[in-house]
Amino acid sequence: MSRARLYVSRLLPDPVMAAIRERFELLSTPGEHVPPKERIREGFRSAEAALVTLTEHIDEELLSTAASLKVIANCAVGYDNIDVQAARRRGIVVTNTPEVLTDATADLTWALILGVARRLVEGDALARSGSWPGWAPTQLLGADVSGRVLGIVGMGRIGQAVARRASGFAMRVLYCTRRSLMDPHPGWIHLSLPELLGESDFVSLHIPLTPETHHLIGPEQLRLMKPSAFLINTARGPIVDEDALLDALQERRIAGAGLDVYEREPAVPEVLRKLPTVVLLPHLGSATLATRVRMGVMCLQNIQAVIDGQRPPNQVN
Ligand code: GLV
Repeated sequence: MSRARLYVSRLLPDPVMAAIRERFELLSTPGEHVPPKERIREGFRSAEAALVTLTEHIDEELLSTAASLKVIANCAVGYDNIDVQAARRRGIVVTNTPEVLTDATADLTWALILGVARRLVEGDALARSGSWPGWAPTQLLGADVSGRVLGIVGMGRIGQAVARRASGFAMRVLYCTRRSLMDPHPGWIHLSLPELLGESDFVSLHIPLTPETHHLIGPEQLRLMKPSAFLINTARGPIVDEDALLDALQERRIAGAGLDVYEREPAVPEVLRKLPTVVLLPHLGSATLATRVRMGVMCLQNIQAVIDGQRPPNQVN
């Protein structure tokens, strides 16, 4: 049986690349960097299937060159990088990778909560500096996490996984969500976004980026947060108006931020890079080896289903 022609945009972990080479005719030589649009266009021209990541912007113009493309498997849970409606109009199925990255992303959210509250990065720098004068009662005093209030914006799979972990820290959990939860945890309290922003010590974002959620957190919303509160974003950068966040941080209207995502990735504003009150990560939410392998395998299952004429498990359009 002939193998389906597959375009792959980025190098994936070895076990995934091995499975690709075994089961598909690989049309590209994926590397460590984001391919230029012309390369993607070339691949799309002859591919039956494409495996792309969140760094590739798949727009109507690119889709118009894809004469034999049946499926685009996005190796991410978020799919704001793909014009899914345009794909649908052209009969191209788009899939994502939900669930397999929930725990990894929730864990990283907690790394940011703890890291920014307890000044981990500054502490690490001091310990490495060779000039740590030794323990001092006033050194690098941070904020309590245990017993405080965690506000979760977006109670989908990842939001709920973050909330479940909060019980280990005896935190009060507030949440706001568009769709009501099927079986909400009895201790979690549903509030409107303004109420949640005003009451939380940590505000953590777990919503997809859509036209409705673009700049959901802007100057007005940041003004509602307590001066002692922290903003955590492991979702998508443009959900937060980054200029407004910079103002709030510089004017100390909020205590700090733990960020894994940025408005114009991979650009991280210089002002942000200089602030001691932030912990900055380079979009590592799902970055564990096992998670990335699961994501790659899920992409291949979705692709194979479409090639076999079946509905793939994770179709989004
Ligand atoms: C990562 O950001 C993802 O959407 O999977």
